[in-house]
Amino acid sequence: MELKEDYREDRDGVDNWNEVNLVYQSALKQIETKMQILNDEFQRVHQYNPIEHIKWRLKTPESIVKKLKRGGYESTIDNMVKYVNDIAGIRIICSFTSDIYRLADMISKQRDIKVIRVKDYITFPKASGYKSYHLIVTVPVYLSDRVVENTKVEIQIRTVAMDFWASLEHKIHYKFEGDAPEYIKNELVECAKMVSDLDARMLKLNDEVLAIGKEHKK
Ligand code: GTP
Ligand code: MG
Repeated sequence: MELKEDYREDRDGVDNWNEVNLVYQSALKQIETKMQILNDEFQRVHQYNPIEHIKWRLKTPESIVKKLKRGGYESTIDNMVKYVNDIAGIRIICSFTSDIYRLADMISKQRDIKVIRVKDYITFPKASGYKSYHLIVTVPVYLSDRVVENTKVEIQIRTVAMDFWASLEHKIHYKFEGDAPEYIKNELVECAKMVSDLDARMLKLNDEVLAIGKEHKK
């Protein structure tokens, strides 16, 4: 591991790799718990769970160093905290597109969460066909003797279908080192259209079933 550790006595941030791990992992746990609470509340109010499942990961030191190099930064703890937004990453997989916006809205309204960047690849998909909703947020992490304010977490929210597409595309991207043959890229764009269509139809179907449920209750 090539990360330089720049020790300092008087800091509120993180100053060594073990602490980086601890702080970012704690931030992830907080976001995960918040999401589970929202999911449980949703179940109580609307009688269904918007979240199918949650995955999270910490970026490896190797890929942090690679990212810093790519950006032309020296590999220091300070630089990674400042410039690498996705050291802590959490992915929330939902049933329906409408759940994504609901969850994003609920996250943004939490008082201890600050949203610092939003990328809506659902309204504006990438040329590859990639769809997902990304937020970079910060949360305070409470340690025994201090608070690490503004710990960044990348939140990706997408449907099951979008996630299915993204994992295959990711594998293909790696296999061809980002340079897949044109016909494969075109096929992926076609599949992305089918994913959007499927998501729209499933949402409509679900809304119709919910409406019938309400009629029955009257
Ligand atoms: P990175 O430097 O790659 O982290 O990207 P960024 O800082 O420009 O942020 P962006 O929100 O565009 O992408 C962040 C993450 O979203 C990536 O690390 C991937 O996990 C995912 N992602 C973005 N674009 C694609 C794509 O075309 N295909 C797949 N499979 N995943 C993508
Ligand atoms: Mg990334």
